[in-house]
Amino acid sequence: MQTIFSGIQPSGVITLGNYLGAMRQFVELQHDYNCYFCIVNQHAITVPQDPEQLRKNIRTLAALYLAVGLEPEKVTLFIQSEVPAHAKLGWIMQCTAYVGELERMTQYKDKARDRGEAIPGGLLAYPPLMAADILLYRTDFVPVGEDQKQHIELTRDLAERFNQRYGELFKIPDIRVPEFGARIMSLQDATRKMSKSDPNQNAFISMLDDESAIVKKIKRAQTDSDNSVHFDKANKPAISNLMTIYSACSGKTMEEIEALYKGKGYGAFKTDLAEVVVETLRPIQARYAELIDSPELDRVLDEGAEKAKRVADETLNKVEEAMGLSRVRAK
Ligand code: TYM
Repeated sequence: MQTIFSGIQPSGVITLGNYLGAMRQFVELQHDYNCYFCIVNQHAITVPQDPEQLRKNIRTLAALYLAVGLEPEKVTLFIQSEVPAHAKLGWIMQCTAYVGELERMTQYKDKARDRGEAIPGGLLAYPPLMAADILLYRTDFVPVGEDQKQHIELTRDLAERFNQRYGELFKIPDIRVPEFGARIMSLQDATRKMSKSDPNQNAFISMLDDESAIVKKIKRAQTDSDNSVHFDKANKPAISNLMTIYSACSGKTMEEIEALYKGKGYGAFKTDLAEVVVETLRPIQARYAELIDSPELDRVLDEGAEKAKRVADETLNKVEEAMGLSRVRAK
């Protein structure tokens, strides 16, 4: 059976973008693959986090992973910092990476720009940690949204570079991006991706937003100049983004949506879109409410960390041995 690894940062409550771009695929994939899904809390601290809020976000994300339909009997769900091999291999991957290639990462450039003179070193070292996450589990492919493509390409480069130096220790992972929903844009600015850390609350729909918040945010969402519900990413990015959300949540094609709202304008479309989103999130939120304070959640995370540790340590031991870090040579 092939292996999948993916991670989500607990840097806020996850958004509809995270769900449509990443999590939703996980639910389908769990039946056919050996799956590792991680709450990457060490990635979240690459920018300052409030400790109480981070603790809360980690648990919320864990509950949401299960609430969307991941089954603990089928997948390994765990918290990154509870498996020390991630940080250890992360260091080794930092030593494998070149500063120049890390500085070229788009996400680094964007995040560093926001930080002025005080750019945490972790922002630059972030992709090697991500490479470590993936490589520890001999991952065949990584299901992610489009914004992570560049990081996965770097992961492949680092794995190949390492293998050339020390032997074929790492499997080279492939990327898998969904056909629809791989890049959901901000509701307030269709040129930026929807992000859970956006300071403008109206820019994203959180998985835990209630009905009135969802209705309000969709009503206020940016639209384009004419009043026709027509899909055209280049010229009508805002309505095309809303249509993508509609399509991903309802299963309707763009042509079906266009036909449905022909001559009706944005108002009617937005009212229905809000309902489609509310109905998509309703069962997830109900299951979330059952899980968030349950001891079952801790049991799942404990077992996940144990299992992940066994697999990750095995890879790490081989790597340390191959590099000459360990005192004894493996037979
Ligand atoms: P993160 O936490 O930013 O996002 C989690 C997942 O959601 C996808 N995503 C989106 N998809 C569509 N539209 C959007 N607006 C949108 N925003 C986010 C992301 O592509 C991602 O799949 N570096 C990663 C976390 C990570 C990871 C890993 C992922 C750490 N180690 C190893 C895969 C494998 C991140 O910051 O994702």
